[in-house]
Amino acid sequence: MTTSIPIDRRLAVDGGRPVRPPDRPWPRWPTPAPDAAANLTAVLTGGRWAISSPSVGDGVLFERRFAADFARYVGTRHCVPVDHGSSALVVALESLGLGYGDTVLVPALTWTASATAALRAGLVPVLVDVDRDTGCVGPDDLDLSVDPRAVVAVHWASNMADVPALDAVTRPRGISVVEDCAQAHGATWQGRQAGSLGRLGCFSFQHGKVLTCGEGGAVVTDDDTLAPVLEELRADSRRYRGDRTPPGELDLEESAGVQGANFCLDEFSAAVACAQLAVLDDQHDVRNHNYRLLADLLDGVDGVRLLQPAPEQTRISIYEGTIVFDELPAGLDNAAVAAALTAELGRRFYCTDEPLHRSRLLQPWTKPLLAPLAERFAAIHRDRTYPNTEWLAAHTVQTHHSTFLGTEQDMHDVAAAVAKVLAR
Ligand SMILES: Cc1ncc(COP(=O)(O)O)c(C=O)c1O
Repeated sequence: MTTSIPIDRRLAVDGGRPVRPPDRPWPRWPTPAPDAAANLTAVLTGGRWAISSPSVGDGVLFERRFAADFARYVGTRHCVPVDHGSSALVVALESLGLGYGDTVLVPALTWTASATAALRAGLVPVLVDVDRDTGCVGPDDLDLSVDPRAVVAVHWASNMADVPALDAVTRPRGISVVEDCAQAHGATWQGRQAGSLGRLGCFSFQHGKVLTCGEGGAVVTDDDTLAPVLEELRADSRRYRGDRTPPGELDLEESAGVQGANFCLDEFSAAVACAQLAVLDDQHDVRNHNYRLLADLLDGVDGVRLLQPAPEQTRISIYEGTIVFDELPAGLDNAAVAAALTAELGRRFYCTDEPLHRSRLLQPWTKPLLAPLAERFAAIHRDRTYPNTEWLAAHTVQTHHSTFLGTEQDMHDVAAAVAKVLAR
């Protein structure tokens, strides 16, 4: 397929006519699913706004319903909802029962929470490079010299990490793989869902994620011994009682096996999450169709391509559509390309988050509680390099997944804008 270059070659950032007429709207995000309003009303009027509310004798908490629905969706035996994706990572790492100061491998190319969660769990994140093709940590990136006790395998942008390959290296050494699926709800690897491949899978339902309830998260696992520990870690050492709760009493009992904290998902968020989960796969179909179309359209443009998953990835879940500029236009860096695309399309295009080895958001030395971990963190990272991470950070431009929730015309506009910027 080829993409025609618009006649007005002057870039919109330089005052030229934009590729996309400003009055052509982009899809909005988020959009409420059909049941969202009714579910919210049911919570508002039902007398139970939190899982720690006294039972009213009938009806199931939305949090319980969501846990069951999401476990079924991912294909795991257990799901423990929490208030944020960051909390999911904290309790998942805490549940492993590691020692204070143990090391955890975390890719440098991810959101800061993948590393700060390790610190919050009393562990030292050790940043490692990623595979240049997928943007995810692979078996060759694992640094076993620091004696890691866990790996946070982040599924990045639209691509999954090769968890079976990571597992093959780590499991014999007693190292646990925790999948960070904040950007991968519904993605599959050889037919298995993200979150079901590692020992634990962690999800975020924050506003921008493909499954959202504003703020929220969940841990999934098949491990029957970790599931009750996760429950306590997120509800002040309390678990759901096994029997029927009499009206006026709490569904949570003080099982008190491990020190917990309050990371509970509230009922309003759970109600919205239940509704949004029902439309997730339909939205995947639209996004993935448009992503394939854009990949085809960019096939005709030299030096540029869409990020593609490993062959074993059987479904992508696009959190951020990632355009790879193997050759950047002369004189432009990817930030300038992103600004030019934004001006051509009236849609935000941007560079990926600062890699963690130079991110201003990762600064454990600013918290007294983290000081001993921060010292070790700084010492370990003094001489490390991340060439693939740096290459991807310099050669990619991203856009939010909702860019792919509209029409095929949208993809033609994006391809035309990319061709125009490259031809400048
Ligand atoms: C890879 C990754 N991990 C963890 C998180 C943290 O999730 P939350 O913002 O819900 O705490 C995010 C959020 O952007 C993320 O992208």
